[in-house]
Amino acid sequence: MSTDTVRAAIVTGAARGIGAATAKRLAAEGFAVAVLDLDESACKTVVSDIEATGGSALAIGADVSDESSVASAVSRVADELGAPLVLVNNAGVIRDNLLFKMTANDWDTVMNVHLRGSFLMSRVAQKYMTEAKWGRIVNLSSTSALGNRGQANYSAAKAGLQGFTKTLALELGKFGITANAIAPGFIETEMTQATAERMGMPFEQFREAVVKGIAVGRSGRPEDIASAVAFLAGDGAGFISGQTLYVSGGPAV
Ligand SMILES: NC(=O)c1ccc[n+]([C@@H]2O[C@H](COP(=O)([O-])OP(=O)(O)OC[C@H]3O[C@@H](n4cnc5c(N)ncnc54)[C@H](O)[C@@H]3O)[C@@H](O)[C@H]2O)c1
Repeated sequence: MSTDTVRAAIVTGAARGIGAATAKRLAAEGFAVAVLDLDESACKTVVSDIEATGGSALAIGADVSDESSVASAVSRVADELGAPLVLVNNAGVIRDNLLFKMTANDWDTVMNVHLRGSFLMSRVAQKYMTEAKWGRIVNLSSTSALGNRGQANYSAAKAGLQGFTKTLALELGKFGITANAIAPGFIETEMTQATAERMGMPFEQFREAVVKGIAVGRSGRPEDIASAVAFLAGDGAGFISGQTLYVSGGPAV
């Protein structure tokens, strides 16, 4: 496709945290960005920030785990921003607990948002990408995919996303579409604040303890992940597909 066409991108879970930073970064790279989250009004600040810097963005309220909500959200993006050619499956929740205390509901919620959500979003978005013969899908996995105490549901979902990513790469590659996963380590967001709270620790203390195990000697910021997404979403990354990129300040263990 012509390189001067503005491409639309969808970032799910983009009202805050990693998703918000990613939406802003993709807008700075020239994409028109759909800022999608559960509550449309919660997306407005990110949209205004993007517009204030001359970018183009649209706030969309949708639940990624709901099939009809996903269908109408993506068709609204296509109508109002253009065919979505980049999809970042970033929406996420945690429902941490040790296995013996984990409820079936906590299991299902985490599977539904991460796995079912990424499946539903990708299935709808790929139609536009295959038509354009160009597309980028980036799924947010996690170092927790390697196993993490108290996260049986989340680590299973994040490992599942890596298999999902490889299969999308195989099925969609011939249409000029790449699919990759990014597996962040410890990133300072409301999600890691909630983890500290669950562990009964002030966030600062939790952060310091975690940073001791990070090779580069600092915690991650949402912008660290946004940079990796921007790279994988760009034209230069067209020969990278089916990979999981650990963005964790050191080798993932
Ligand atoms: N923060 C970290 O250290 C870290 C590490 C590894 C992976 N991740 C992953 O990165 C992604 C973003 O994490 P974050 O730290 O920014 O989290 P966050 O909790 O700050 O933000 C997640 C966003 O997803 C939205 N969301 C939740 N359920 C949704 C649904 N059903 N439909 C649409 N939106 C929904 C939330 O409303 C929220 O705005 C998640 O997939 C998370 O699992 C985060």
